[in-house]
Amino acid sequence: MDKPSGKFAGNDPFEIAQRWLTEAEVTEPNDPNAIALSTVDVDGLPNARMVLLKEIEPAAFVFYTNYESAKAGELESAGKAAFVMHWKTLRRQIRVRGLVTKEDGPQADAYFASRSLKSRLGAWASKQSQPLSSRGALLAEVAKITATKGASPKRPPFWGGFRITPVEIEFWADGEFRLHDRFVWRRATPGDDWTVIRLNP
Ligand SMILES: Cc1cc2nc3c(=O)[nH]c(=O)nc-3n(C[C@H](O)[C@H](O)[C@H](O)COP(=O)(O)O)c2cc1C
Repeated sequence: MDKPSGKFAGNDPFEIAQRWLTEAEVTEPNDPNAIALSTVDVDGLPNARMVLLKEIEPAAFVFYTNYESAKAGELESAGKAAFVMHWKTLRRQIRVRGLVTKEDGPQADAYFASRSLKSRLGAWASKQSQPLSSRGALLAEVAKITATKGASPKRPPFWGGFRITPVEIEFWADGEFRLHDRFVWRRATPGDDWTVIRLNP
């Protein structure tokens, strides 16, 4: 197999992902770190929604959400997830599949503290994925939280991160005449070495 080169070059898929995201930050008009997060419910019915990827770590990807949301229930019951990032400006895609754990320690506290005050109060006020009678009811909840939590609300116990530790990462880049380039990094478990394979488009 020919060795990954050019934009695919590297010995570490997390470094390649970070490099591609850094390039997308220059070209994308909005949310270059948006990922379509895919889960399955207890019946095996797939679900997907956008979230923002907040950290690319040396061995994992982290995003933040409400632990009582639909997605959190699905992540916790399955323990697995997939996501895709697509950058129209670069005509590139990254796909990730892996195992999920919670990040509800100091790292989540630090990320929560870095958010704007309004976002922090909003996280307290929103019962994400639950029915809401009206927008007015949500704004009333925000006002109540603002009055009680003050200027430096700490991270709610029902809000934090999820860490996806991949067993598969695929890099895709648009090629002429739909002869796209694809390289997939695979390993059976997170402790194993990666195998890199070029795939047909
Ligand atoms: C671009 C974009 C970014 C989003 N980022 C987040 C996020 O980081 N965390 C989050 O909980 N929801 C985020 N959302 C909202 C989710 O898509 C979704 O509506 C919400 O999390 C509830 O999903 P669930 O009911 O499947 O749990 C984002 C939506 C969009 C369109």
